[in-house]
Amino acid sequence: MEIKEYIEEKKKSIDSALENLLFPLKEYSALYPALSYSLLSGGKRIRPVIALATYEANKEDSRPIIPFACAIEIVHTYSLIHDDLPIMDDSNMRRGRPTLHRVYGSDMALLAGDALLSLAFEIVSSTSHEKVFTAEKLLAVVREFGKATGIRGLVGGQVMDMVTMNEENVEESMVIYIDSRKTGELMKLAIRTGAILGDAENSELVALSEFAENFGISYQIVDDILDEVATVEVTGKDTGKDRKNRKATFIALYGVDRAREIAKDFVNKSKDYLKPFGEKYKVLMDIAELSLQRMK
Ligand code: IPE
Ligand code: IPE
Ligand code: MG
Ligand code: MG
Ligand code: MG
Repeated sequence: MEIKEYIEEKKKSIDSALENLLFPLKEYSALYPALSYSLLSGGKRIRPVIALATYEANKEDSRPIIPFACAIEIVHTYSLIHDDLPIMDDSNMRRGRPTLHRVYGSDMALLAGDALLSLAFEIVSSTSHEKVFTAEKLLAVVREFGKATGIRGLVGGQVMDMVTMNEENVEESMVIYIDSRKTGELMKLAIRTGAILGDAENSELVALSEFAENFGISYQIVDDILDEVATVEVTGKDTGKDRKNRKATFIALYGVDRAREIAKDFVNKSKDYLKPFGEKYKVLMDIAELSLQRMK
């Protein structure tokens, strides 16, 4: 199967699973319209697809991990809602529509993000998974979620993204720190969740984590390039924001052409970690390669 078809097929199963996960919350809160506005709004779903692909490299049927893959997308969506707030990046458009706070207000956007993060933990810690996975593995995955989303992960990256705004002479190592945390950590969470629950060997887990970190950095560089060169019609979100907000990116350091080369280098590096396993993780390598096409 072509990689684009593979992604499309998995995306569909994630989209419908997300709808089913959210629907029962409808009766509980006035927040439901805000939650569904953000979550069921056509993101690329690349993180859950990566989780499924990693699991499928080890097990035949990826259905048991669909809730985990959805939980990763739920965390990602929370991070986007908060990232867009006026006190953060102050963005007006997201996934081709006005950002959540523009429609429902910053109060509801803050709370929607909070609720989504909590929901992700509720989903992954459900006792129903014990029919398929050991309690030990499930606890390990819950811990992965905590680590990847917190101060050593996504939040840690977002913190330095904000702290370095407007700063002169930010070092390349700091940009890598920011990108590997704010974006790499969720990629790593997706991969590690698929690998841990799929009973991958420890050596594979290590290599997959390296793949995810390097791919994540590249993914953020491509996003930064699009912010610089593309339009809202293409990306579905505000563009030119990183320049305006004076963000620490590879574009600010070296310009777009060099940033394109660096994005390619990180993808090549990421793929090198999976080459020892032959064709086993080809889907992941293809996803990484495909992601570079967006910046052309
Ligand atoms: C956007 O991620 C934010 C980054 C970390 C680069 P995506 O480009 O995966 O956004 P969606 O989920 O498809 O909207
Ligand atoms: C965001 O990076 C990464 C997150 C953790 C949300 P950006 O601020 O560049 O993401 P976009 O461009 O708003 O999607
Ligand atoms: Mg941001
Ligand atoms: Mg942003
Ligand atoms: Mg961006």
